[in-house]
Amino acid sequence: MRSRPATVVVRGGRIVDSIGVRPADVLIQDGTITSVTTTVSSAPPGTVVLDASGCLVGPGLVDLHTHLREPGREEAETVETGSRAAALGGYTAVVAMPNTDPALDSAAAVRQVQDLGADALCHVYPAGAITVGREGKMLAPMAEMAALGVRIFTDDGNGVQDSRMMRRAMEYASALGVTLAQHCEDASLAGGGHMHEGEWSSRLGLAGQPAEAEELMVMRDLALARLTGARMHFLHLSTAGSLAMVRGAKKSGLVVTAEVAPHHFTLTDECVASYDAVFKVNPPLRTAQDVAAVKAALADGTADAIATDHAPHTAEAKEAPFDQAPPGMLGLETALGLALTELDLTGEQVFALMSWQPAAIAGLSGEHGGPIEVGRPANLCVVDPDQTWTVDPSASASRSRNNPYRGRTLRGRVRHTVLAGEPVVVGGEAQR
Ligand code: DOR
Repeated sequence: MRSRPATVVVRGGRIVDSIGVRPADVLIQDGTITSVTTTVSSAPPGTVVLDASGCLVGPGLVDLHTHLREPGREEAETVETGSRAAALGGYTAVVAMPNTDPALDSAAAVRQVQDLGADALCHVYPAGAITVGREGKMLAPMAEMAALGVRIFTDDGNGVQDSRMMRRAMEYASALGVTLAQHCEDASLAGGGHMHEGEWSSRLGLAGQPAEAEELMVMRDLALARLTGARMHFLHLSTAGSLAMVRGAKKSGLVVTAEVAPHHFTLTDECVASYDAVFKVNPPLRTAQDVAAVKAALADGTADAIATDHAPHTAEAKEAPFDQAPPGMLGLETALGLALTELDLTGEQVFALMSWQPAAIAGLSGEHGGPIEVGRPANLCVVDPDQTWTVDPSASASRSRNNPYRGRTLRGRVRHTVLAGEPVVVGGEAQR
């Protein structure tokens, strides 16, 4: 644990949490919120004062879907560089995906990432793999990983193809009280397609994957969730059809959750016309109709969370021809700005989608997601919703540069991030 100031005041902002929006100053002592009042007038000498005038002061953001690449792909990202990017983006917690090398499919591997995260600029919660090596053949020792506190299991990067295996995983997960998160992709139907199958893939001469490759697995897993009662979370849903199925399932009383990624509400498959692999991602960028459906799902509660799918790749990897480059794009530093700029939602709705709802899905509500009340841990995100800024990939804290928003002007900039009472970002600058 790094040293942190004994006392911090976040002054002059508007609090936004699950209770509502209200003006207040927040006094933090030794990592805990000790006062939430309209004005903290007398602070002891040595108090660090964070100016929040004009800002929303929310609970720290929680990302359900971050690729930190460590162990094994440290040339693209490390826990340290990824967590710095997260803090700059307003996050105080990230769920680290297990498609590392080796995969996080054992207690030892999970422990390694937990140890690497112990001194990071945000809290790092590893997700465990559902199957050994994420190969879909044998269940991973989920109980051993759950005993270390792992609450989310996924083979992300791959969907679990075998239905019987997925049913078993759901039964096992239910018994353990953990959540399974599925990357929905029927591999045989996707057939190695490099982009969305449609008008643009035909024009560009690139092999596509149809929307149905995602939708078939959503359909199957909804059926299996009904059968087993498992807690299912759907990762990075990208098609109108997938979201319609989740909407229907929720209406019928099934308890499932879903996330969508910023690139699926801001970019379309037309971007691929540049043949620039910065626009290659999986699930792929879809059509304008799908983008509209993702926005509608965020507005009506079908989507519970915005998750980044922050997927760093080296410049060498992304300079390969489109059909040979790996899929994935950066997301941690731009997600909040994109949500505040591109969605017709209030600040409160955006924080719900990026903080307390994902915190609940990840089982982190005790630590993250607020509410901002006396006695709660001081994990906070202070954002100026009116400040505009231009995305400059070269200024990123990530070790990678595969940011598809180069030059885009966003409204909404993180001013401060407070992690367990420590101001890790102040005035938009990382403090360590
Ligand atoms: O675009 C993606 N990149 N989708 C995934 O499912 C995996 C991820 C990665 O690890 O690069």
